[in-house]
Amino acid sequence: MTRTIACVVGARPNFVKMGPILKGLALADPGLRAVLVHTGQHYDEVMSDLFFQQLGLPKPDVHLEVGSGTQGQQTAKILSRYEEWLVGASPRPLATLVVGDVNSTVGCGLASVKLGIPVIHVEAGLRSFDRSMPEEINRLVTDSFAELLLVSEPSGMDNLRREGHSEASMRAVGNVMIDVLKTELPLARELQQPAKLGLKPGSYALWTMHRPSNVDEPGVLAEMAAAMIRIAHRLPVVFPSHPRTKGRLEAAGLWTKLESAPGVHVGPPLGYMEFLSLSSQARIIVTDSGGLQEESTVLGIPCLTLRENTERPVTVSLGTSTLVGRDTKLLMKMVDDVLGGRYKQGRAPDDWDGRAGERIGREVVAFLKDRS
Ligand code: UD1
Repeated sequence: MTRTIACVVGARPNFVKMGPILKGLALADPGLRAVLVHTGQHYDEVMSDLFFQQLGLPKPDVHLEVGSGTQGQQTAKILSRYEEWLVGASPRPLATLVVGDVNSTVGCGLASVKLGIPVIHVEAGLRSFDRSMPEEINRLVTDSFAELLLVSEPSGMDNLRREGHSEASMRAVGNVMIDVLKTELPLARELQQPAKLGLKPGSYALWTMHRPSNVDEPGVLAEMAAAMIRIAHRLPVVFPSHPRTKGRLEAAGLWTKLESAPGVHVGPPLGYMEFLSLSSQARIIVTDSGGLQEESTVLGIPCLTLRENTERPVTVSLGTSTLVGRDTKLLMKMVDDVLGGRYKQGRAPDDWDGRAGERIGREVVAFLKDRS
């Protein structure tokens, strides 16, 4: 009988992480078949399909086509559709592997554990200690039932210990997103994405935001847009917008204002390669993304993080990130510091070395062997 493991992806950051995980699994046990499940949380060409193409991911074996919805609707749909698939799956997967902190992570995890199929969580233990974030709830819930907790940075191990998880259940494996970055960086640079916008490498800021805390309150959103325009007086700002952010900006009448602001380059979301081409050659990154805090740390580029807290504290303590929250005055000061050569130099944790996928593969295979 074929032995299978179900590997779940749903949203953009999941797609990036899954490639090295699949490779690591195949390397550790060529007889184990990974069944790739796409929940359909992200579905647009640029939010999903392009990532599959560029990162050489196999076509999903299963597509749950859940689409968008409120937190509850989306998570419930993911849970029920994944449960339905698991119940009929033949052979029954030995485990479900989920990554990150999105609704697909918790939805599929919960369906799986309730059917007695163990859950493996990649990027376990991260905590922002901010329960107003949907992702923090997803992290806490997923780690509470996952049997194997694979951790990307030291704080994750500390958090899991404090929450009473056993040493046997947790493993430090490094950061799998960095595997992809290290592999793809040379090709991404060759794309010369800055030149396509008429920009020189090292001469522009790259801005991304999509968190509800920054884009859902009209007052905050207006302040963010004003700060972007102010920064563009100092250096050009490239702003590939997430669809939810674009929607909010349009509703507030701010989208056309940004489009016509001198030095602001607004545009649609970009593929992984185009985005890495831009991020790796930026002077400054301004973002509320979790993954980008980590990537900028490895790239050695100052990252001004539009968050009051972070579940990735190593990017602040060791790396290049500074939390500026929604304080646009502080943001402007930090931009001055960067341009004036007064910004800190960071470095990346030692095990963000491009080999996390291999370690994950080995840990998963050992876990499955112990259980059989
Ligand atoms: C989700 C994750 C977030 C992650 C982000 C990366 C959760 C709770 N949040 O947030 O942690 O950082 O993905 O992008 O899982 N939309 C489209 N096309 C798409 C997908 C979404 O237009 O392909 C629009 C829809 O209007 C949708 C909105 O974006 O309602 C939000 O999408 P959703 O997946 O709910 O959350 P994200 O904000 O993308």
